[in-house]
Amino acid sequence: MKGVLLSGGSGTRLRPITHTGPKQLVPVANKPVLQYALEDLREAGITEIGVVLGNKGREEIQEFLGDGSEFGVEITYIVQGNPLGLAHAAGCAKDFVGDDDFVMYLGDNILQQGIGELVESYRAGDYDAGIALQAVDDPRQFGVADVDDTGTVTRLVEKPDDPPSNLALIGVYVFSPLVFDAIERIDPSWRGELEITDAIQLLLDDGRRVDSHVVEGWWKDTGKPEDILEANRLALENLDGAVEGTIEEGAEVTGSVDLAPGAVIEDGAVVRGPVAVGSDTVIGEGTYLGPCSSVGPNTTIENAHIESSVVIGESEITTSGKIVDSLIGRNATVGTAEGLLPEGRRLVVGENSHLRL
Ligand code: DAU
Repeated sequence: MKGVLLSGGSGTRLRPITHTGPKQLVPVANKPVLQYALEDLREAGITEIGVVLGNKGREEIQEFLGDGSEFGVEITYIVQGNPLGLAHAAGCAKDFVGDDDFVMYLGDNILQQGIGELVESYRAGDYDAGIALQAVDDPRQFGVADVDDTGTVTRLVEKPDDPPSNLALIGVYVFSPLVFDAIERIDPSWRGELEITDAIQLLLDDGRRVDSHVVEGWWKDTGKPEDILEANRLALENLDGAVEGTIEEGAEVTGSVDLAPGAVIEDGAVVRGPVAVGSDTVIGEGTYLGPCSSVGPNTTIENAHIESSVVIGESEITTSGKIVDSLIGRNATVGTAEGLLPEGRRLVVGENSHLRL
Protein backbone atom coordinates (compact mmCIF):
# COMPACT_ATOMS: atom_id res chain seq x y z
CA MET A 1 0.00 0.00 0.00
CA LYS A 2 1.23 3.50 -0.85
CA GLY A 3 0.46 6.91 0.62
CA VAL A 4 -0.63 10.09 -1.16
CA LEU A 5 -0.30 13.18 0.98
CA LEU A 6 -2.06 16.28 -0.30
CA SER A 7 -0.16 19.50 0.29
CA GLY A 8 -1.59 21.79 -2.36
CA GLY A 9 -4.55 24.14 -2.00
CA SER A 10 -4.51 27.86 -1.39
CA GLY A 11 -5.03 28.20 2.38
CA THR A 12 -7.26 31.28 1.97
CA ARG A 13 -9.05 30.70 5.27
CA LEU A 14 -5.74 30.92 7.13
CA ARG A 15 -4.63 34.28 5.77
CA PRO A 16 -2.52 36.23 6.61
CA ILE A 17 -0.53 33.29 8.03
CA THR A 18 -0.61 31.58 4.63
CA HIS A 19 0.49 34.67 2.66
CA THR A 20 4.05 33.58 3.24
CA GLY A 21 3.82 29.80 3.39
CA PRO A 22 1.63 26.74 2.91
CA LYS A 23 -0.99 25.92 5.53
CA GLN A 24 0.37 22.39 5.91
CA LEU A 25 3.49 23.81 7.56
CA VAL A 26 1.63 25.78 10.23
CA PRO A 27 2.80 24.29 13.55
CA VAL A 28 0.56 22.53 16.04
CA ALA A 29 2.35 21.91 19.36
CA ASN A 30 5.44 23.19 17.51
CA LYS A 31 5.26 20.51 14.79
CA PRO A 32 4.00 21.23 11.26
CA VAL A 33 0.53 19.79 10.64
CA LEU A 34 1.85 17.82 7.66
CA GLN A 35 4.32 15.93 9.83
CA TYR A 36 1.49 14.37 11.87
CA ALA A 37 0.06 12.88 8.66
CA LEU A 38 3.45 11.61 7.54
CA GLU A 39 4.03 9.94 10.89
CA ASP A 40 0.56 8.34 10.83
CA LEU A 41 1.30 6.86 7.40
CA ARG A 42 4.63 5.51 8.56
CA GLU A 43 3.08 4.03 11.71
CA ALA A 44 0.52 2.25 9.53
CA GLY A 45 3.48 0.67 7.69
CA ILE A 46 3.20 2.93 4.62
CA THR A 47 6.60 4.30 3.66
CA GLU A 48 6.28 4.94 -0.09
CA ILE A 49 4.62 8.33 -0.12
CA GLY A 50 3.70 10.65 -2.97
CA VAL A 51 3.43 14.27 -1.82
CA VAL A 52 1.11 16.31 -4.04
CA LEU A 53 2.26 19.93 -4.32
CA GLY A 54 0.29 22.98 -5.42
CA ASN A 55 1.74 26.22 -6.70
CA LYS A 56 1.89 27.75 -3.25
CA GLY A 57 4.65 26.85 -0.81
CA ARG A 58 6.08 24.16 -3.05
CA GLU A 59 9.72 24.91 -2.20
CA GLU A 60 9.05 25.21 1.54
CA ILE A 61 7.37 21.80 1.66
CA GLN A 62 10.17 20.16 -0.32
CA GLU A 63 12.75 21.82 1.86
CA PHE A 64 11.02 20.57 5.01
CA LEU A 65 10.38 16.98 3.90
CA GLY A 66 13.45 16.44 1.71
CA ASP A 67 13.59 12.88 0.36
CA GLY A 68 11.74 11.69 3.47
CA SER A 69 14.69 9.81 4.95
CA GLU A 70 14.71 12.03 8.02
CA PHE A 71 11.15 10.85 8.70
CA GLY A 72 11.76 7.19 7.84
CA VAL A 73 9.83 7.31 4.55
CA GLU A 74 10.58 7.60 0.83
CA ILE A 75 9.03 10.63 -0.84
CA THR A 76 8.12 11.17 -4.48
CA TYR A 77 6.92 14.69 -5.35
CA ILE A 78 3.93 15.11 -7.64
CA VAL A 79 3.00 18.57 -8.92
CA GLN A 80 -0.70 19.35 -9.16
CA GLY A 81 -0.40 23.11 -9.70
CA ASN A 82 -3.72 24.94 -9.33
CA PRO A 83 -6.06 23.49 -6.69
CA LEU A 84 -8.67 21.96 -8.97
CA GLY A 85 -10.08 19.68 -6.28
CA LEU A 86 -9.22 16.68 -4.15
CA ALA A 87 -10.17 14.22 -6.89
CA HIS A 88 -7.97 16.10 -9.35
CA ALA A 89 -5.10 15.97 -6.83
CA ALA A 90 -5.62 12.21 -6.42
CA GLY A 91 -5.70 11.81 -10.21
CA CYS A 92 -2.28 13.46 -10.44
CA ALA A 93 -0.92 10.56 -8.34
CA LYS A 94 -2.15 7.85 -10.75
CA ASP A 95 1.27 6.94 -12.21
CA PHE A 96 2.88 6.97 -8.78
CA VAL A 97 0.19 4.66 -7.34
CA GLY A 98 0.26 2.16 -10.24
CA ASP A 99 -1.56 -1.07 -9.31
CA ASP A 100 -1.34 -0.59 -5.55
CA ASP A 101 -4.00 0.35 -3.03
CA PHE A 102 -3.30 3.69 -1.39
CA VAL A 103 -4.18 5.94 1.51
CA MET A 104 -4.96 9.52 0.55
CA TYR A 105 -4.30 11.83 3.50
CA LEU A 106 -5.25 15.52 3.43
CA GLY A 107 -2.21 17.37 4.71
CA ASP A 108 -4.23 19.71 6.95
CA ASN A 109 -6.01 16.98 8.95
CA ILE A 110 -4.86 15.67 12.34
CA LEU A 111 -6.19 12.51 13.98
CA GLN A 112 -5.51 11.63 17.59
CA GLN A 113 -5.42 7.89 17.03
CA GLY A 114 -3.69 7.72 13.67
CA ILE A 115 -4.96 5.64 10.75
CA GLY A 116 -4.07 2.07 11.77
CA GLU A 117 -7.67 0.93 12.37
CA LEU A 118 -8.95 2.46 9.14
CA VAL A 119 -6.26 0.72 7.10
CA GLU A 120 -6.81 -2.63 8.88
CA SER A 121 -10.56 -2.43 8.40
CA TYR A 122 -10.12 -1.79 4.63
CA ARG A 123 -7.61 -4.63 4.29
CA ALA A 124 -9.92 -7.07 6.11
CA GLY A 125 -12.62 -6.90 3.41
CA ASP A 126 -12.92 -6.82 -0.35
CA TYR A 127 -13.30 -3.06 -0.68
CA ASP A 128 -12.58 -0.46 -3.33
CA ALA A 129 -12.68 2.44 -0.90
CA GLY A 130 -12.52 3.04 2.82
CA ILE A 131 -13.74 6.22 4.48
CA ALA A 132 -13.41 7.56 8.01
CA LEU A 133 -16.33 9.34 9.68
CA GLN A 134 -16.97 11.34 12.80
CA ALA A 135 -20.11 12.99 14.20
CA VAL A 136 -19.77 16.79 14.18
CA ASP A 137 -21.94 19.70 15.32
CA ASP A 138 -22.06 21.45 11.94
CA PRO A 139 -21.72 18.95 9.09
CA ARG A 140 -22.42 21.59 6.42
CA GLN A 141 -18.72 22.47 6.15
CA PHE A 142 -17.67 18.88 5.35
CA GLY A 143 -18.43 15.93 3.13
CA VAL A 144 -21.34 14.09 4.80
CA ALA A 145 -22.27 10.39 4.76
CA ASP A 146 -25.75 8.94 4.90
CA VAL A 147 -25.65 5.50 6.48
CA ASP A 148 -28.42 2.90 6.86
CA ASP A 149 -29.41 1.02 10.02
CA THR A 150 -26.61 -1.52 9.52
CA GLY A 151 -23.99 1.23 9.30
CA THR A 152 -23.54 0.79 5.53
CA VAL A 153 -22.87 4.01 3.60
CA THR A 154 -25.67 4.70 1.14
CA ARG A 155 -24.85 8.20 -0.06
CA LEU A 156 -22.16 10.87 0.19
CA VAL A 157 -22.63 14.57 -0.36
CA GLU A 158 -20.10 17.42 -0.26
CA LYS A 159 -20.85 20.41 2.02
CA PRO A 160 -24.65 20.06 1.86
CA ASP A 161 -27.03 22.84 2.96
CA ASP A 162 -29.32 20.18 4.35
CA PRO A 163 -27.07 17.39 5.70
CA PRO A 164 -28.54 13.87 5.68
CA SER A 165 -26.67 13.05 8.93
CA ASN A 166 -24.11 14.55 11.31
CA LEU A 167 -21.37 12.17 10.10
CA ALA A 168 -18.56 14.16 8.48
CA LEU A 169 -15.99 12.65 6.15
CA ILE A 170 -12.56 12.83 7.71
CA GLY A 171 -9.74 13.71 5.33
CA VAL A 172 -8.21 10.25 5.15
CA TYR A 173 -9.34 7.73 2.54
CA VAL A 174 -8.20 4.29 1.36
CA PHE A 175 -8.61 3.44 -2.33
CA SER A 176 -7.99 0.72 -4.86
CA PRO A 177 -6.77 2.00 -8.25
CA LEU A 178 -10.40 1.71 -9.45
CA VAL A 179 -10.95 5.18 -8.03
CA PHE A 180 -8.99 6.66 -10.95
CA ASP A 181 -11.66 5.45 -13.35
CA ALA A 182 -14.34 7.13 -11.19
CA ILE A 183 -12.30 10.36 -11.05
CA GLU A 184 -12.23 10.50 -14.84
CA ARG A 185 -16.03 10.30 -14.94
CA ILE A 186 -17.00 13.06 -12.48
CA ASP A 187 -17.78 16.70 -13.27
CA PRO A 188 -16.71 19.77 -11.29
CA SER A 189 -18.98 20.66 -8.36
CA TRP A 190 -20.75 23.97 -7.68
CA ARG A 191 -17.45 25.25 -6.22
CA GLY A 192 -15.67 24.37 -9.47
CA GLU A 193 -13.65 21.51 -7.98
CA LEU A 194 -13.43 17.81 -8.78
CA GLU A 195 -14.65 16.42 -5.46
CA ILE A 196 -13.31 13.15 -4.08
CA THR A 197 -16.71 12.79 -2.38
CA ASP A 198 -18.35 12.60 -5.84
CA ALA A 199 -15.82 10.00 -7.02
CA ILE A 200 -16.63 7.79 -4.01
CA GLN A 201 -20.35 8.29 -4.67
CA LEU A 202 -19.75 7.02 -8.20
CA LEU A 203 -18.06 3.91 -6.79
CA LEU A 204 -21.20 3.36 -4.68
CA ASP A 205 -23.42 3.89 -7.75
CA ASP A 206 -21.31 1.29 -9.59
CA GLY A 207 -22.10 -1.20 -6.80
CA ARG A 208 -18.55 -1.15 -5.43
CA ARG A 209 -17.99 -1.84 -1.74
CA VAL A 210 -17.08 1.14 0.42
CA ASP A 211 -15.89 0.47 3.96
CA SER A 212 -16.78 3.06 6.57
CA HIS A 213 -15.17 3.46 9.91
CA VAL A 214 -16.29 5.78 12.70
CA VAL A 215 -13.21 7.32 14.30
CA GLU A 216 -13.25 7.52 18.10
CA GLY A 217 -10.40 9.86 19.10
CA TRP A 218 -10.45 13.54 18.22
CA TRP A 219 -10.00 14.78 14.66
CA LYS A 220 -9.30 18.28 13.41
CA ASP A 221 -9.30 19.89 9.98
CA THR A 222 -6.94 22.82 10.54
CA GLY A 223 -8.38 25.04 7.80
CA LYS A 224 -9.13 28.09 9.99
CA PRO A 225 -7.24 29.93 12.79
CA GLU A 226 -9.65 28.69 15.48
CA ASP A 227 -9.07 25.12 14.26
CA ILE A 228 -5.30 25.56 14.67
CA LEU A 229 -5.81 26.74 18.25
CA GLU A 230 -8.13 23.83 19.01
CA ALA A 231 -5.77 21.29 17.38
CA ASN A 232 -2.91 22.84 19.35
CA ARG A 233 -4.85 22.41 22.59
CA LEU A 234 -5.69 18.79 21.80
CA ALA A 235 -2.17 17.92 20.64
CA LEU A 236 -0.59 19.50 23.73
CA GLU A 237 -2.85 17.42 25.94
CA ASN A 238 -1.46 14.33 24.16
CA LEU A 239 2.15 15.38 24.49
CA ASP A 240 4.51 13.95 27.10
CA GLY A 241 6.60 17.00 27.82
CA ALA A 242 10.38 16.61 27.49
CA VAL A 243 12.56 19.22 29.15
CA GLU A 244 15.68 19.62 27.02
CA GLY A 245 16.08 23.32 27.74
CA THR A 246 16.72 25.13 31.03
CA ILE A 247 14.31 26.03 33.80
CA GLU A 248 16.02 28.61 36.01
CA GLU A 249 15.69 28.58 39.74
CA GLY A 250 12.91 30.94 40.73
CA ALA A 251 10.78 30.09 37.67
CA GLU A 252 7.38 28.68 38.60
CA VAL A 253 6.56 25.76 36.31
CA THR A 254 3.61 23.39 36.69
CA GLY A 255 1.95 20.85 34.40
CA SER A 256 3.39 19.28 31.28
CA VAL A 257 6.04 21.44 29.60
CA ASP A 258 7.85 20.54 26.40
CA LEU A 259 11.02 22.59 26.34
CA ALA A 260 13.24 22.30 23.25
CA PRO A 261 17.06 22.50 23.43
CA GLY A 262 18.36 25.98 24.09
CA ALA A 263 15.01 27.25 25.41
CA VAL A 264 15.02 28.99 28.79
CA ILE A 265 12.31 29.70 31.33
CA GLU A 266 13.83 32.48 33.36
CA ASP A 267 13.69 33.28 37.04
CA GLY A 268 10.47 35.23 37.62
CA ALA A 269 8.45 33.60 34.81
CA VAL A 270 5.31 31.56 35.50
CA VAL A 271 4.49 28.69 33.14
CA ARG A 272 1.44 26.45 33.45
CA GLY A 273 1.29 23.48 31.11
CA PRO A 274 0.46 21.96 28.87
CA VAL A 275 2.74 24.18 26.82
CA ALA A 276 5.44 23.70 24.18
CA VAL A 277 8.42 26.03 23.86
CA GLY A 278 10.66 25.90 20.78
CA SER A 279 14.45 25.92 20.59
CA ASP A 280 16.37 29.00 21.74
CA THR A 281 13.21 30.74 22.92
CA VAL A 282 13.32 32.77 26.12
CA ILE A 283 10.32 32.94 28.43
CA GLY A 284 11.50 35.93 30.39
CA GLU A 285 10.88 37.45 33.77
CA GLY A 286 7.39 38.72 34.47
CA THR A 287 5.84 36.48 31.84
CA TYR A 288 2.85 34.25 32.39
CA LEU A 289 2.64 31.49 29.79
CA GLY A 290 -0.64 29.72 30.37
CA PRO A 291 -2.15 26.35 29.43
CA CYS A 292 -2.56 25.26 25.82
CA SER A 293 0.06 27.61 24.38
CA SER A 294 2.84 26.83 21.94
CA VAL A 295 5.70 29.21 21.33
CA GLY A 296 7.94 28.40 18.39
CA PRO A 297 11.73 28.79 18.12
CA ASN A 298 13.94 31.87 18.49
CA THR A 299 11.34 33.96 20.28
CA THR A 300 11.65 36.30 23.24
CA ILE A 301 8.74 36.84 25.58
CA GLU A 302 9.03 39.32 28.43
CA ASN A 303 6.50 40.72 30.88
CA ALA A 304 3.71 39.28 28.77
CA HIS A 305 0.61 37.23 29.53
CA ILE A 306 -0.14 34.57 26.92
CA GLU A 307 -2.60 31.72 27.11
CA SER A 308 -4.36 29.31 24.72
CA SER A 309 -2.33 30.73 21.84
CA VAL A 310 0.13 29.76 19.13
CA VAL A 311 3.18 31.92 18.51
CA ILE A 312 4.75 30.45 15.38
CA GLY A 313 8.26 31.68 16.10
CA GLU A 314 11.13 34.16 15.46
CA SER A 315 9.09 36.77 17.34
CA GLU A 316 9.34 39.26 20.18
CA ILE A 317 6.45 39.75 22.56
CA THR A 318 6.81 42.33 25.31
CA THR A 319 3.29 43.71 25.70
CA SER A 320 1.68 43.80 29.12
CA GLY A 321 -1.77 43.31 27.59
CA LYS A 322 -3.22 39.81 27.88
CA ILE A 323 -2.94 37.70 24.72
CA VAL A 324 -5.52 34.90 24.61
CA ASP A 325 -6.83 32.59 21.84
CA SER A 326 -4.39 34.16 19.38
CA LEU A 327 -2.38 32.96 16.42
CA ILE A 328 0.75 35.04 15.90
CA GLY A 329 2.68 34.59 12.67
CA ARG A 330 6.43 34.29 12.19
CA ASN A 331 8.70 37.26 12.79
CA ALA A 332 6.06 39.36 14.59
CA THR A 333 6.69 42.05 17.19
CA VAL A 334 4.04 42.73 19.81
CA GLY A 335 5.22 45.47 22.15
CA THR A 336 3.76 48.00 24.49
CA ALA A 337 2.45 51.49 23.73
CA GLU A 338 2.65 52.60 27.36
CA GLY A 339 4.47 55.87 27.86
CA LEU A 340 4.23 56.85 24.19
CA LEU A 341 2.36 59.96 23.10
CA PRO A 342 -0.13 60.35 21.63
CA GLU A 343 -1.73 57.53 23.56
CA GLY A 344 -3.18 54.71 21.52
CA ARG A 345 -2.47 51.43 19.82
CA ARG A 346 0.18 51.37 17.13
CA LEU A 347 -0.37 48.75 14.48
CA VAL A 348 1.29 47.54 11.33
CA VAL A 349 -1.26 45.00 10.21
CA GLY A 350 -0.81 42.73 7.19
CA GLU A 351 -3.38 42.09 4.51
CA ASN A 352 -6.24 39.80 5.64
CA SER A 353 -5.36 40.10 9.33
CA HIS A 354 -7.94 39.73 12.11
CA LEU A 355 -7.62 41.85 15.24
CA ARG A 356 -9.87 42.09 18.28
CA LEU A 357 -8.67 44.92 20.50
O1 DAU B 1 -11.16 17.87 6.26
C1 DAU B 1 -12.14 17.00 5.77
C2 DAU B 1 -12.83 17.58 4.55
O2 DAU B 1 -11.82 17.83 3.56
C3 DAU B 1 -13.89 16.61 4.03
O3 DAU B 1 -14.96 16.49 4.96
C4 DAU B 1 -14.45 17.10 2.70
O4 DAU B 1 -15.33 16.15 2.17
C5 DAU B 1 -13.30 17.33 1.72
O5 DAU B 1 -13.79 17.88 0.50
C6 DAU B 1 -12.27 18.29 2.30
O6 DAU B 1 -12.87 19.58 2.42
P1 DAU B 1 -12.07 20.96 2.51
O7 DAU B 1 -12.88 22.02 1.85
O8 DAU B 1 -11.69 21.18 3.94
O9 DAU B 1 -10.75 20.68 1.65
P2 DAU B 1 -9.60 21.70 1.34
O10 DAU B 1 -9.91 22.46 0.11
O11 DAU B 1 -9.27 22.47 2.58
O12 DAU B 1 -8.38 20.74 1.01
C7 DAU B 1 -7.92 19.77 1.90
C8 DAU B 1 -6.41 19.55 1.73
O13 DAU B 1 -6.07 19.14 0.39
C9 DAU B 1 -5.55 20.75 2.00
O14 DAU B 1 -4.39 20.30 2.69
C10 DAU B 1 -5.17 21.29 0.64
C11 DAU B 1 -5.17 20.05 -0.21
N1 DAU B 1 -5.62 20.29 -1.60
C12 DAU B 1 -6.85 20.83 -1.81
C13 DAU B 1 -7.31 21.02 -3.09
C14 DAU B 1 -8.69 21.60 -3.33
C15 DAU B 1 -4.80 19.91 -2.66
O15 DAU B 1 -3.67 19.41 -2.44
N2 DAU B 1 -5.25 20.12 -3.93
C16 DAU B 1 -6.49 20.65 -4.20
O16 DAU B 1 -6.84 20.80 -5.39
